[in-house]
Amino acid sequence: FRPSDIGMLLAICSQAAGALRNAQLFEEIQEAYAEQQRLDKLKDEFLVTASHELRTPLSAISGYSTLLKRQSNRITPQHILRFASKITGAAQQLTDLVSSMTEAARIGTVDKKLELQMGPVQLLSAVEMAINMISVNIEQKIVSQVEANLWMKGDPLRVRQVISNLLDNAAKYSPPDGRIEILAAVTSLAKVPLPDEQVDIESDPNMLVVLVQVYDEGEGIAPEDQQKIFEKFVRATRSLTTPVRGTGLGLYICRRYIEAMGGRLWLQHSIPGEGSAFSFYLPYIDAPQEASTNEQNKQDEPEQQAS
Ligand SMILES: Nc1ncnc2c1ncn2[C@@H]1O[C@H](COP(=O)(O)OP(=O)(O)OP(=O)(O)O)[C@@H](O)[C@H]1O
Ligand SMILES: [Mg+2]
Repeated sequence: FRPSDIGMLLAICSQAAGALRNAQLFEEIQEAYAEQQRLDKLKDEFLVTASHELRTPLSAISGYSTLLKRQSNRITPQHILRFASKITGAAQQLTDLVSSMTEAARIGTVDKKLELQMGPVQLLSAVEMAINMISVNIEQKIVSQVEANLWMKGDPLRVRQVISNLLDNAAKYSPPDGRIEILAAVTSLAKVPLPDEQVDIESDPNMLVVLVQVYDEGEGIAPEDQQKIFEKFVRATRSLTTPVRGTGLGLYICRRYIEAMGGRLWLQHSIPGEGSAFSFYLPYIDAPQEASTNEQNKQDEPEQQAS
């Protein structure tokens, strides 16, 4: 090559490199724009859902309190009690909604690190409290197969919230006569049936974990929605003839909680029309000394005689 040819080649190369860089930047901008549009759409859908979610309990509160005011001298104490319970229920719905919105906003943006109060959690008591929390509002019976000796490492409040969210979903998306079951067992991480994308290669496969599974016989989730439901504000497409309350935040929050506590949460399987199973695990720990002594004392005590 002559020096002038080399000069020309270098000029062409630098032009080509510039064009390639521009093309790459253009593609990145296009992708960012598409992502922005997707988020905008989700935000719009969320605003519609959230305002609906806010309006329903609000109208119950204002309706029942107006009834109480207008008819205070005509209604029976039983009616007063019934209306007051409706008002309390609706106020609780509002509180739950506001706290999940705040929580999702918090973990999604500013403060990515959750503040956790880690300690030993007795799974059985978390399950019992979660069942008590939700069974007032549901028709299905929840069958719990959880033993008292299962303890895990976590934040008791978050563990309870995760279980009640999973049970709440199982009930919401199932017919009234559907069976809901919660099972738990200790196993090694290697034996947990995790989907590939949830496997954490850095974790020790021999680590003992408590695996918790929630089964329902509900409507199931279409294969194309099965991954998306863990995203913020995403709800699976379903028949509009039977609308079900929800904002699409529950599973997003639950997954973040469980991951922050050192576990995983995933959809184990789901068959449209037949039911779903959601699972999570958290590190297993031995029962605290105090709890195991109490348990032992209880077993040693003679049965109380009814007098
Ligand atoms: N057990 C289940 N059976 C069928 N579909 C489910 C089940 N659990 C979740 N889904 C689907 O996944 C979607 C996301 O669930 P998620 O709990 O995140 O939100 P949500 O229940 O819609 O609202 P909320 O914020 O009140 O929990 C639901 O809208 C529903 O379509
Ligand atoms: Mg939910």
